[in-house]
Amino acid sequence: MTMMRELDTITATEDAHLINLYAKREVAIVRGAGSRLWDSDGKQYLDLMSNYGVNILGHAHPKVNAAIKEQVDRLTNCHSSFYNDARAEFLDLLGELAPAGLTRSFMSSSGSEAIEAALKFARVATGRRKVVATKRAYHGRTLGALNATADKKYRDPYLPLMEGFSHVAFDDIDAIGAAIDEETAAIILEPIQGEGGIYVPSDEYLAAVHELARRAGALLILDEVQSAFRTGTFFACQASGVTPDILAVSKGIAAGFPLGVTLVTDEVAARIPAGSHGSTFGANPLACAAGTATMRVLRDDGVLENAARVGTYLQEQLRALKHPKVREVRGRGLMIGIELRERATKYMRGLQQSGVLVLSAGATTLRCLPPLILTEAEADEAVGAIAAVLTSGGAAGGRSEGEA
Ligand SMILES: Cc1ncc(COP(=O)(O)O)c(C=O)c1O
Repeated sequence: MTMMRELDTITATEDAHLINLYAKREVAIVRGAGSRLWDSDGKQYLDLMSNYGVNILGHAHPKVNAAIKEQVDRLTNCHSSFYNDARAEFLDLLGELAPAGLTRSFMSSSGSEAIEAALKFARVATGRRKVVATKRAYHGRTLGALNATADKKYRDPYLPLMEGFSHVAFDDIDAIGAAIDEETAAIILEPIQGEGGIYVPSDEYLAAVHELARRAGALLILDEVQSAFRTGTFFACQASGVTPDILAVSKGIAAGFPLGVTLVTDEVAARIPAGSHGSTFGANPLACAAGTATMRVLRDDGVLENAARVGTYLQEQLRALKHPKVREVRGRGLMIGIELRERATKYMRGLQQSGVLVLSAGATTLRCLPPLILTEAEADEAVGAIAAVLTSGGAAGGRSEGEA
């Protein structure tokens, strides 16, 4: 009798029990350390996706893990109707690092929840209903957030959605100006579009949109679920000197532990009725401990500087390839899109075979969201693998399956 591989058992079980929602990759990831992951067959990968942008400090970061271990033995859950020391510590540090003026927070456990809260808060604070979002935007797939997400493949199966949402071209100030009126509660934007294909707007865009919102009495919601921490500043909006009325953060803020935060100004907070929103798991001490440890590392250990420096280096090296299959390399820091002249999926799969994990974004863009601790040597390794896979037409290039 032949023994079943561990991978076959894992895939058979998942396939039998999970709803078929995800395009699965045929590997089971079982361990991680730094910028490396290992599958159930012991194959090593260079991680250029950090779990869709979550594990910003790499895997098993010693300081974050120590904080989680310490907290897990003390207290894991504590509803927000009670005060808690780990939560107070987290909020204190967040207050130090967040853009000035964003003084109050609602805490949840994911990016979509952070957006749900942002949309509800904008409606209740303005007494208005309309929301202007952008084409190619991704803000999550829960029923509220889905209204702001643009892609038809996520929206169409769940129609009809809420009324009052419109989508205008990204990085087009006039289009926002034409869409906004006295019934608009909010404009919602990613400062750099992520899932849509890594699009960085012109320098003046965010400030101009903020001014349009202010004049119309609407609020600006910035969705930094993906862009926070990756671009050389804590929040991408800080590069353009724009502080929104509402800021949504999640993914990296606890370096892998589920945590979402919706930050608002005092003015917005004052208009949110007590008891009108909440979450059982939100602001739990374990997530707070992980978040505090993560923000300390970001503040003290040169991680933002590394993201800016290695990000610039990686983008330069990718451009220097001048590969005929590459139309454009876009991004800021370690949020990078490589737009190809053909569909990206087979190259993403080829890279996986050669031991490098990347994402796609839109149909033709390869997306790199590596851990922010990536080294230049690892960036070189990535560029070598990408060049080889592009040249081979999508087959694993250069390296054999088991090679590190
Ligand atoms: C910009 C942005 N907003 C919201 C979300 C939704 O976050 P989550 O999947 O944690 O609900 C994502 C996820 O990719 C995102 O990139």
